[in-house]
Amino acid sequence: MKTEYVKCEGSEKEACLLKAAEILKEGGLVAFPTETVYGLGGNGLNPASSKKIYEAKGRPSDNPLILHISDFSMLKDLVAEIPKSAVLLAETFWPGPMTLVFKKSALVPYETTGGLDTVAVRLPSNEIARALIKKAGVPIAAPSANSSGRPSPTKASHVREDLDGKIDMILDGGEVGIGLESTIIDVTVEPPMILRHGYITKEMLQPLFSEVAVDLAATGEKPKGDFKPKAPGMKYKHYAPKGNIILYEGERAAVIREINRDAELAKKEGFVTAVLATEESKEEYKADYVLSLGKRTEPEEIAHNLFDSLRKFDEIGAERIFSESFGSDGLFEAVMNRLNKAAGYQRKKVN
Ligand code: TXA
Ligand code: MG
Repeated sequence: MKTEYVKCEGSEKEACLLKAAEILKEGGLVAFPTETVYGLGGNGLNPASSKKIYEAKGRPSDNPLILHISDFSMLKDLVAEIPKSAVLLAETFWPGPMTLVFKKSALVPYETTGGLDTVAVRLPSNEIARALIKKAGVPIAAPSANSSGRPSPTKASHVREDLDGKIDMILDGGEVGIGLESTIIDVTVEPPMILRHGYITKEMLQPLFSEVAVDLAATGEKPKGDFKPKAPGMKYKHYAPKGNIILYEGERAAVIREINRDAELAKKEGFVTAVLATEESKEEYKADYVLSLGKRTEPEEIAHNLFDSLRKFDEIGAERIFSESFGSDGLFEAVMNRLNKAAGYQRKKVN
């Protein structure tokens, strides 16, 4: 299949959105920007479209898709009920980087929900995303537009790397703003439970509720034994570059020393080495490549650059990757969850 690649801007915007909406209505797949990451969209009410999404991504079929709506009024047909907690959350954070899990209505096919009786819904704030959903006139099922297992795409070029030839169209709306996927909150339970950390942090939810729960799979900890994450996608290997990553935790000076020592050993063994560093420390490392995520004092910058950096490691052919860590304050909780998965939970504590 030939994938049409369109810059969706300026005077081209209207025509490109109309064409993309037509493709979606006819059951095809269109990748489009959202404020979090690029999504791979299909008609969420059409089982055949959802199947195509799983195929294009190489995604396990028990991993449900998020339905994207352009207006709050689209929600009621998709869900069995709208709990009070959902109304409060929607009023506070929609449109925006938050996904809510509801009991599904009969309208939503099991092909879209991976066989679950619940459905995840998000009202994005990105203008192109909302205009596209509105023009298509249906809720758009959209997982992140990467091949299953790879880092989520924050640029249209990332989508092209993974899905060229496998989908009908890529709408290039420039680089996304946030760069991490949405926060997922289950509102079918009391108290509401965070299933995946994202830009909307636990601290931001606390003023709204007396209690907020967090699913173990959302933390940076490796799920043990037969623990089953409530968001099925959280159990899969994800975000990992081809090279092996280890996260270093501890005092700044000790981390730098230990990374330099381990990188030197790896170099001697003939591996291409790389460090995932920050602006504050990047000059201190002696690996073959050093990528900076940004300033530690700017968590949003770190989050924004994370997936792009993980992809760059593959471009440069990094075989041994040594990464700094970021604690668990605010947005860093989400960053560390992604980094831990990328590293397969390999960590080294240093003092
Ligand atoms: O920011 C985002 O959420 C992006 C953009 C495109 O909107 N989308 C995204 O989708 O990250 P995806 O498919 O890569 O991740 C969706 C996650 C998966 O972990 C999936 O298991 C979980 O949402 N999920 C979907 N439906 C669910 C449900 N009914 N119950 C629990 N988890 C669900
Ligand atoms: Mg994904």
